[in-house]
Amino acid sequence: MYPQVLLQNRKPDRIASLDEYRQSGGYKALKDVLKDYSHKDVQQEVMDSNLLGRGGAAFPTGMKLMSVADDASFPRYIICNADEMEPGTFKDRVLIHADPHMLIEGIIIAGYASLAEKGIIFIRPEYENAARILEREIEIARNEGYLGNNILNSDYSLEITVHRSAGRYICGEVTAQMNALMGKRPNPMKPPPYPTEKGLWGQPTVLSNVETFACIPHIIRHGGQWFKDLAKTESGAGTKIFGISGKVNKAGCYELPLGVRLSEIIEAYAGGMPAGSEFKACLPGGASTGFLPRQYYDIEMDYDALRNVGNRLGTGAIMVFDQKTCLVGATVNLIEFFARESCGWCTPCREGLPFILDLLKRIENGDGEPEHIPMLEHMCKSLWNAYCAFAPGAIAPVESLLKHFEDEVQEHINQKKCPFK
Ligand SMILES: Cc1cc2nc3c(=O)[nH]c(=O)nc-3n(C[C@H](O)[C@H](O)[C@H](O)COP(=O)(O)O)c2cc1C
Ligand code: SF4
Repeated sequence: MYPQVLLQNRKPDRIASLDEYRQSGGYKALKDVLKDYSHKDVQQEVMDSNLLGRGGAAFPTGMKLMSVADDASFPRYIICNADEMEPGTFKDRVLIHADPHMLIEGIIIAGYASLAEKGIIFIRPEYENAARILEREIEIARNEGYLGNNILNSDYSLEITVHRSAGRYICGEVTAQMNALMGKRPNPMKPPPYPTEKGLWGQPTVLSNVETFACIPHIIRHGGQWFKDLAKTESGAGTKIFGISGKVNKAGCYELPLGVRLSEIIEAYAGGMPAGSEFKACLPGGASTGFLPRQYYDIEMDYDALRNVGNRLGTGAIMVFDQKTCLVGATVNLIEFFARESCGWCTPCREGLPFILDLLKRIENGDGEPEHIPMLEHMCKSLWNAYCAFAPGAIAPVESLLKHFEDEVQEHINQKKCPFK
């Protein structure tokens, strides 16, 4: 059993109360920070921890906090991204339901590091229970002096509110999210300016993922080096909540060191695969990562290791497929989602994804032609010209299908039917 940090207070049937969180050391980091740390000290500790953002893009969190300039204007905002609409991903919901005060403390400390005075938790509408839990626990934290004016009698003040999304996948993208919060059409905006310079309402804004914020109290309490050493790999840092689903016996969220092997997650934690199932592939980090074929069954689940094989750790949401699963059909399912969720702002994505979907459906239904494979390759290339990171993520399953499972696509075309049906 590896050390449990983020899920240490998880219980099968209920959330951890404020007292339970405090008994495990909760809010001690906030007390220490407000007493003994400058906001720059907090930035440095997070920087030293090598924490990479857990929302999918893996940007160094310390660097993000440091990029709020000393003379940046006020008010400044801190936003917690709890949108979590990436198919297969459910770790942020589990974290909020397990220990909401860990997230709240993380937001307050990160808010202090950027001297933000207003915090917002942006949450997907399907997470209504989580939103209510957060609203209730934020109120409890305020009554205890952890939020509001002059937190714990210090000079620092912060309020946090919960904002329910209107419910589109693109609202999870940082700049689209800020547009959504400002009541505008939620299309992404290309930097510069970066959100830490001019974000929400044109003011400096730090936006990070739920799991990222939850790491911060532990980094302060035990030090950046301790956090770094939690990982199994040299380049990794911390633990990661892996959410595993698909062809495994015990789907769920498991907190494990970064760099743990995929085979270990499946066999030792997810209860192995059902009888008769053999590992064929997985998506290692959510719907916007590529199929990882059998030859990588033992790969270290870390940012660098997956990048080195042309894939991504993404959100750490692992979806497992067995030898009986048609990966063309699985890809159709994923592209249906992405074609529906394209925000429509730019042509390659708005028009390209329905085109790709149509080609894949024809292949799946036995109406595919040999020229459809180069057409798919061509279309995927053109989506790299789209405006934002949504499009390269959307085509990751298609590109990896063609790279690793072209024979399976070809078989659909040759047999004029799905060989799995
Ligand atoms: C289409 C799209 C959807 C995204 N959805 C989410 C999301 O639901 N939650 C999240 O934390 N990050 C999401 N991201 C990544 C954010 O843009 C951003 O990188 C992240 O929230 C920053 O937090 P982090 O540094 O803690 O990872 C999404 C990105 C894209 C392109
Ligand atoms: S790539 Fe897609 S999601 Fe991004 S701006 Fe263009 S249409 Fe919108």
